[in-house]
Parts: sequence; structure tokens; C-alpha cells
Amino acid sequence: MRIAIIGGAGRVGVSAAFHLLTERLCRQLVLIDIMEDLLKGEREDLLQCTSVIGRIDVLTSASAEACAGCDVVIIPAGSRRKPDQSRLDLIKINVGIIDSAIETIKRVNRDCIIFIVSNPVDVLTLRAYIRSGFHHTRVIGLGNVVDSVRFRSYLAEHFNWEPRDVTAFLCGEHGDSMVPIWSNASYAGIQFKNLTGVNVKQLEEVYQKTRKTGAEMIRLKGGASWAVGVAIAEVIRAIAFDQKRILPVSSVPMGAYGINEMTCISLPTIVGHSGIEGYADMKFTKEELDGLRQSAKIVAKTYQEVEKA
Ligand SMILES: NC(=O)c1ccc[n+]([C@@H]2O[C@H](COP(=O)([O-])OP(=O)(O)OC[C@H]3O[C@@H](n4cnc5c(N)ncnc54)[C@H](O)[C@@H]3O)[C@@H](O)[C@H]2O)c1
Repeated sequence: MRIAIIGGAGRVGVSAAFHLLTERLCRQLVLIDIMEDLLKGEREDLLQCTSVIGRIDVLTSASAEACAGCDVVIIPAGSRRKPDQSRLDLIKINVGIIDSAIETIKRVNRDCIIFIVSNPVDVLTLRAYIRSGFHHTRVIGLGNVVDSVRFRSYLAEHFNWEPRDVTAFLCGEHGDSMVPIWSNASYAGIQFKNLTGVNVKQLEEVYQKTRKTGAEMIRLKGGASWAVGVAIAEVIRAIAFDQKRILPVSSVPMGAYGINEMTCISLPTIVGHSGIEGYADMKFTKEELDGLRQSAKIVAKTYQEVEKA
């Protein structure tokens, strides 16, 4: 696979690049960023790993046109919120960055999968879908994959479990209206409700910690990076190896679970070589389904605000 990262010199871009490299998920990696010196430095650092990892070509460019011929174009390019800047102002800046990237992708690479990471990820994934005119199966947002990765790790830490044996989805908006899917959460195949020593209060505590961790990462270290890179690699692995994994990526639901509006949220999605290959036949509780529908409405409303602004 050939993979491009637009925003490839940023914190998230470099972490994604490092994971793709060490897991050998691509043959060629194209890092694109407007910070040219930083980009050059990161490229040298990554390239120096290849004598241990094995040959992977690492290319750089200041122009998004360099994504031509790539199978997947990952976009974590973005601006950070500045003091006195409103949330909508920041969204407008990131919408501008995504619009410009999408225009270039449409011109030079109509066959790729577009993979949006920049925030607000659901709104920007919807924007990329509408602006690109690509089939909805080829426009993916990182959505709640990071949140779910964090959630499983924190649950394992709290209960002293092996993290890879935890199954727990967070779905809906990558934001305040995110929905924990407790009805399908399990450890080593045992539903949480059937595990002795696990109570609702503890689970709620871990969930609240997960909800707040994005902001906490910004406070402690300027922003998350390693877990985001791992989450991006999880999605890329599913595409590269056609794994048909069920991942809570963001996409336009197209009627899935009865969600018909023009919106983007994370649902239990089958991810394979073609991108979005369907949705899991997951039975939600009424409360969970109401939460997902509420998330869908919130993202649609924010998108409309952006369109009007
Ligand atoms: N979806 C998620 O789960 C998730 C998690 C963490 C971060 N994020 C988002 O990812 C984005 C990146 O975060 P970060 O910490 O890496 O920020 P960062 O500031 O470290 O990196 C952003 C990079 O984008 C580059 N850039 C800006 N405009 C560009 C353009 N037009 N073309 C090419 N490159 C451009 C910048 O030069 C910079 O290197 C943010 O929007 C952040 O909110 C999303």
C-alpha cells in the first residue's frame, strides 16, 4: 500500500507515520506538511529506522498533490484553538484546510480512501464526503476509534485485565454526546453484567475518565499522540489486510440503524479493503439507540451552522 499523511509533521501525523512504519503497513509513506523544516527533520528520523524495520520509502512534500497514486490519504492537518478564538472560528479554519485538501485529492487521486482525523472529526468527515463526491464507503473518519482504544485500556487497568481481551465500543459523536455501548461490552467473551466484581459505579467512573482524557492530554502534554497513532494504524491494518473488522469509525450512516439524516457518526462498522463495507448487526438498547440518534442530530446541526457561517 501507498499511504499519504496530510499534516504529516504534526504530533498526530508523526505518531501515525511511526506506527505504520514499525508495523510495516505500507510500502511507501508520503508525508505532506506546510512546515517544511520540521517535515524534513521528521522524515530523516523516520527513515533512519528502516535499517532495523526494513525498506519503506519515506517521501515528503509541501503540496497535497504528492498524494497522487496513494491508496489511502490520512488527514490530521489542522490548526489548534488560540486564546480568544471561538469553537466555530476554529472549525471554520479546519474546514478551510479540509476543503483545500479535498479539492487537490479530487484533481490528482480520485480512487483513494479519504481518512479524516482532524477535529471536529465527524463534521469534517461529512464535509469531505460532500465536497469530494466520493462514494460514502471511501470517506472514513477516525471517530470514536481513539475513544474506544482508550476506554478498553482504562477498563483493563482498573480491573487488572489483559487489555486485548476487552471488547467495549464507544459510538456516536467524537465529543460530548458520545454513547457507551454497555449492552455489548465484555471481557474475554463474558458480558460485563455477568462478571462478579464489576459494578455500574466502577464502569461509570472509567467511562468518565475516558470522556475527559482528550482535554487532559491537551493540559498535560499539548495533545494526544501515541494512542491516536495506534488507533489510526488499527484502521489502516483493517484496510490493508481486508480484515472486515468491526471498528467504531465515523461515516455517513446511509440509513444504518434507522439514521437517515445527512450526518456522520461512529457506528460499529465493518472495515475492509474497500473502506466502509457495512455495519454490524448489533442489537442496541433503546437508550443506546436514542443516544446515537441524538449524536447524529448534534453533528448534523453543527454542520449546518458551519455551512451558514
Ligand atoms: N479524531 C481524533 O480522535 C483526534 C485525536 C487527536 C487529535 N485529533 C486532531 O488531529 C489534528 C492534529 O492534531 P496535532 O496534535 O497533530 O496538531 P499539530 O498542530 O501538531 O499538527 C497539525 C499539522 O497540520 C499541519 N497543517 C496545517 N495546515 C496544513 C495544510 N494546509 N496542509 C498540510 N499540513 C497542514 C501543520 O503544519 C501541523 O504540522 C487536530 O485537529 C486534532 O484536534 C483528532
